[in-house]
Amino acid sequence: MIAGLDKDLQIGGRRVCGRLFLAPMAGLTHVAFRQMVAGYGGYGLLFSEMCSAKALPFENRAVSPVFRWADAELPDLVCQIFGADASVMARAAKRIQAEGFFGVDINMGCSVAPICKQGAGAALLKDPVRAAEIVAAVREAVSIPVFVKFRTGWTDCPESAVDLAGRLVRAGADALVFHPRVAPDRRTRPPKWDYIRDVKEAACVPVFGNGEVFSRQDCMRMLQTTGCDGVAIGRMALAKPWLFAQWALGFEPSGDIYHECAHTMLDLLEKHFEPVNALRRYRKWIVYFAANFVYGHRFSAQVRKAADIAAARRAVDAFFASDPSLGSGPNRNLFQ
Ligand SMILES: Cc1cc2nc3c(=O)[nH]c(=O)nc-3n(C[C@H](O)[C@H](O)[C@H](O)COP(=O)(O)O)c2cc1C
Repeated sequence: MIAGLDKDLQIGGRRVCGRLFLAPMAGLTHVAFRQMVAGYGGYGLLFSEMCSAKALPFENRAVSPVFRWADAELPDLVCQIFGADASVMARAAKRIQAEGFFGVDINMGCSVAPICKQGAGAALLKDPVRAAEIVAAVREAVSIPVFVKFRTGWTDCPESAVDLAGRLVRAGADALVFHPRVAPDRRTRPPKWDYIRDVKEAACVPVFGNGEVFSRQDCMRMLQTTGCDGVAIGRMALAKPWLFAQWALGFEPSGDIYHECAHTMLDLLEKHFEPVNALRRYRKWIVYFAANFVYGHRFSAQVRKAADIAAARRAVDAFFASDPSLGSGPNRNLFQ
């Protein structure tokens, strides 16, 4: 029997009101995007972009590109950090706790070279002892819930993912978010959802599955076939920021929601960032949003050409004036 997507669960002794998480995405799950998602509701928790643990204790939230939030979101907001040194990670976690975040999430999935070269992100999958030391140090430093988001490993071996999950939980992780892909795979092959079941069976804390959940049916199938406690959603939430409300609460989007949403995102970016950075973030987001449409690549290209926010607004209005057709699912060429 599957729980409703809005059903509570306990993580680290704290209540979470829902089974869907907004997955962390660099350059995308910033304060402006999260505010748009929050306007619709329906999620359990929101995850920030990844923040450098080294830099975090010295960040000023008014100017930091990544460590920036609205006070109202703190009760449901988890800050993700990356780093390779246990004491540095613990110090960052202390600041996150002091600022009032719901929890701290340790990145063990990012496989881009600048992160892995530091021994952080997915590099930690190669060193389970160090990975567990980091979790233990963070656990000791804070009382807020500690999450770990991780991938299968560097080879396609579910046994190592299960072994790592056990180590992370014994070291004090309160919940796991598991993306069952090998680290070198940049979303080209399908994730292996079967491995989520293996991790769930082995872990005695809530496990959230992640990877290629593009519809409510996908979401229910992931829950049913793996037994996971909830689902973290990445790209599809960028395409449809209202999907948490739609899937968990029965919210019915109106026909105008796409046009409205394209403008609201600009309004919120202008509110939270200065114009150059607002436009840069809009250009990054519009690719995923445009994936909703049959001719999304043209829409995305037009908006990305815009020299300023006013030109981006004109490109949006011109596209919607053409009465665009929605695709039956996200355009995978735009959805990388
Ligand atoms: C542009 C982009 C940036 C991402 N940045 C992060 C990140 O900073 N931290 C992280 O743990 N995962 C990151 N991810 C991975 C997502 O959280 C998620 O695991 C992945 O997109 C698969 O989920 P999905 O199929 O629902 O998108 C990123 C993904 C994308 C597409």
